[in-house]
Amino acid sequence: SGVSFTLSNGVKIPGVGFGTFANEGAKGETYKAVTTALKVGYRHLDCAWFYKNEDEVGQAVKDFLKENPSVKREDIFICTKVWNHLHRYDDVLWSLNNSLKKLQTDYVDLFLVHWPIAAEKDGQEQPKIGPDGKYIILKDLTENPEETWRAMEKLYEEKKARAIGVSNWTIKGLEQLLSFAKVKPHVNQIEIHPFLPNNELVDYCFKHDILPEAYSPLGSQNQVPTTGEKVSENPTLNEIAKKNGYTLAQVLIAWGLRRGYVVLPKSSNPARIESNFKSIDLSDEDFEAVNKVADNRHFRFVNMKDTFGYDVWPEEAKNAISTE
Ligand code: A2P
Repeated sequence: SGVSFTLSNGVKIPGVGFGTFANEGAKGETYKAVTTALKVGYRHLDCAWFYKNEDEVGQAVKDFLKENPSVKREDIFICTKVWNHLHRYDDVLWSLNNSLKKLQTDYVDLFLVHWPIAAEKDGQEQPKIGPDGKYIILKDLTENPEETWRAMEKLYEEKKARAIGVSNWTIKGLEQLLSFAKVKPHVNQIEIHPFLPNNELVDYCFKHDILPEAYSPLGSQNQVPTTGEKVSENPTLNEIAKKNGYTLAQVLIAWGLRRGYVVLPKSSNPARIESNFKSIDLSDEDFEAVNKVADNRHFRFVNMKDTFGYDVWPEEAKNAISTE
């Protein structure tokens, strides 16, 4: 898909990004997946320090550029994120520099604060885990992330990141961030799919020139525990795909792009990596039909509260399950 958006600072961002999260992925899996993605045309890679595979992403990009001299580093949009235990000013700087080394590049296109939670570290390489098996939350820095954001702004000024933003931020958190930001966040990456359209947060972002990015846009593989429903098994959504000869994933990706935000599908399967990137035409009628499925749904699949010992979305706890 050639759709792109423009961030509030004028930086262009490809509308479909390739998600590189590999849950306990085998060594080499990310390298293969990213290589396939670049070959079939993706020009946006969504990475994170926490995914522990930036070295494979970096190698895949380097080898791809070498084999395809007409494509330059600046043609590829690379995002990465700082993990919770590195929210202190110097640690944020350390985190991006560490990511840049692994990614084998001297700048990223986008750098995000991965979660609105600051936690104690156990050296640079990992968070400290408390006796209850959970992260040790740094209350002050979590409640006031100004120090963290100043470091993000510093990296932006130094042009080590062409844009900066956040991930998993709520409206309340964004309001606070906007109150002290000298550089406003360009992006908020959040979970969005038809079972969690996240309309209020998405609208808030648009209103404040923050581009939303959708993770788990396919609704993951999870079930709503109370009803057993799955996005992938929703009859209406499957009917829309079938009657047009599209895959369900293509419909969900097109729905997100049409709602105006970045969509980040991930797959380790070459055929699905390729088909997910093919753009399709979603008719007005089908677009409205997906909106109708999404109406009044608030089901969150990704909630790290059991790992963190801290719930980012307390008001929605009743809908949350853990998928860590
Ligand atoms: P696979 O790697 O086997 O393709 P989400 O980003 O919503 O959490 O979803 C990611 C999951 O969706 C992955 O497990 C991936 O599995 C699967 N997936 C990706 N693309 C497709 C597709 N086109 N059809 C079905 N499942 C898909």
